[in-house]
Amino acid sequence: MILDLKDLAAVEKQYYLQHFIAPRPICFASTIDKQGNVNLSPFSFFNMFSSDPPIVVFSPSRRIRNNTTKHTLQNVLEVPEVAINIVTYDMVQQTSLASCEYPKGINEFIKAGFTPLPATLIRPPMVKESKIKMECRVIEIKPLAELAGSGNLVICEVMRVHVDDSLVDANKRIDQRKINHVARLGGDWYCQVNESNLFQVEKPNTQIGIGIDCLPLSIRNSKILSGNNLGQLGNVRELPAIDPSFDDDNLKQIIQYYSINPDEMERELHSYAKQLLEKGKIIQAWQVLLALS
Ligand SMILES: Cc1cc2nc3c(=O)[nH]c(=O)nc-3n(C[C@H](O)[C@H](O)[C@H](O)COP(=O)(O)O)c2cc1C
Repeated sequence: MILDLKDLAAVEKQYYLQHFIAPRPICFASTIDKQGNVNLSPFSFFNMFSSDPPIVVFSPSRRIRNNTTKHTLQNVLEVPEVAINIVTYDMVQQTSLASCEYPKGINEFIKAGFTPLPATLIRPPMVKESKIKMECRVIEIKPLAELAGSGNLVICEVMRVHVDDSLVDANKRIDQRKINHVARLGGDWYCQVNESNLFQVEKPNTQIGIGIDCLPLSIRNSKILSGNNLGQLGNVRELPAIDPSFDDDNLKQIIQYYSINPDEMERELHSYAKQLLEKGKIIQAWQVLLALS
């Protein structure tokens, strides 16, 4: 399927893009108008764009249904301040409830059952139940067009963050496993980030990886090793050499058993290397693969 976005209705553009650009973090934005009416709404067109200055952007779109603007946008145009509350799994149903199109002036803190907590630098209150709350100043609002569905970038500088102590260790480091973020995908889909689906990928920026193009052909063209496996192997600083002290019973057995059949031996060694790579044992995997040379 090839999609030419210009040929699609706004609602279709939204449908496809929201499925493709996912998962998206959720900004639960608390804003206030000049009269002091508070509004609370979730926005998943949201991310960080700079750490210094600390800039995050979210986008309340013009409603596709009738091309009107959302109360959040109207509020930040009046009072350029927003408390951005990060949404975690235990808040997701109430957060969704707060997204109902309540009439202007209705306070979604009350409708969705959240507790307003006074902020320290801005007028809109924070959501007490959120474990990460950011006090932000709106530095620019950039309408992208005036069509039904057009976004309005609300560019915010984060001035102060309140982090729940349960997420922080004695050295002020954050334990990613404890946050339990939720994120929005296409349609009604959400995902939860927890220990069962978190994994780590070693950053390649401390050293320059040799690259997949520098892997020996037999490895690069392997029918067993996946793109992820090759990415791990290509992330070493230099092509490893055989380590004579590498002692591995499984490797010994494979070599002994398949010595008369080199093709099968290669298959077995690649399978074993793959298992090791999937456990993050890159040095050992290399030694297994080098046994073929
Ligand atoms: C998880 C979630 C994410 C949402 N993200 C957006 C978004 O990025 N942009 C948008 O315009 N509306 C988004 N919505 C819909 C708004 O929350 C909804 O239109 C809300 O009523 C706007 O409220 P307001 O008019 O009080 O500002 C989202 C809804 C949910 C539940």
